[in-house]
Amino acid sequence: MPINGQTKVVGIIGDPVKHSLSPQMHNVAFKHLNLDFVYIPFHVKPESVGEAIKGMRALAMVGLNVTVPHKIEVMKYLDEVSPDAKAIGAVNTIFFKDNKCIGDNTDGRGFIRALIEDEGIIIAGKSVVILGAGGSARAIGHSLIKDGVGRLIFCNRTVSKAESIAGSFQSMGISVAGMGIIDSRDEIAQADMIINTTSIGMKQGDPLLINPEWIRKRQIVYDIIYSPPETLLLQAAKARGARVMNGLGMLIHQGALAFEIWTGCPAPVEVMRNVFP
Ligand code: ATR
Repeated sequence: MPINGQTKVVGIIGDPVKHSLSPQMHNVAFKHLNLDFVYIPFHVKPESVGEAIKGMRALAMVGLNVTVPHKIEVMKYLDEVSPDAKAIGAVNTIFFKDNKCIGDNTDGRGFIRALIEDEGIIIAGKSVVILGAGGSARAIGHSLIKDGVGRLIFCNRTVSKAESIAGSFQSMGISVAGMGIIDSRDEIAQADMIINTTSIGMKQGDPLLINPEWIRKRQIVYDIIYSPPETLLLQAAKARGARVMNGLGMLIHQGALAFEIWTGCPAPVEVMRNVFP
């Protein structure tokens, strides 16, 4: 649909933003459903995040996605944050409700939806090891706990961060702990699922964070990296007979959830997926 006087505007703020695949993914979906929406990338420097949010309100935009490095900083400028965004401590989607500017986080829910809808995996009762203790680890960990994971271990290079993130989820009533990656051999060997939430594996020459010999047949190994589509970790896990999956499903479903918040329409997930060769 050509842009006209009534076209609704959404977009993404980040620094950098030029590599984002979200504009393509959302604009193809709007076109497919004949929705009068457009999605635009905005390169916003850290010192301008507050101004950008003011601008979004002034321009009566429908909402925004927020990507690195603004996911935490942006929270200061919103009227409310959702319970998920509060628990995760970061916002990736902004929308308006009753004139209030609200921050939500669809990363963890997107991850779960990718597991359930794309892979038919049930989380309830499973034992999961998360590699990393940053924002993505927190988002995924929170959603896994909400979905009834049985046991959750955060393994990180910096042990204190793994302990701190585990401590913050202690009150949610499941078995959760943090430890160093080098000490995680037994936990990894016993887990049903291992999830890499670090950026290690994105660049050629990146090392393996864990010894692949710790991985067992029939385990699920998930890497939130989608470029390259098969990281060294996934290659090693596959060679060990594990079931592997990359982060494309999470990317698509976090976007689909944002799409649904803004438009009120079910997202055409397969159309969005087709954007990726
Ligand atoms: P995000 O918010 O995207 O999850 P982040 O907060 O920068 O990203 O977290 C990156 C994660 O990757 C952290 O767990 C980090 O480990 P530390 O807490 O020890 O820094 C992990 N990471 C980054 N580089 C690493 C490396 N070379 N070896 C091991 N872990 C690494």
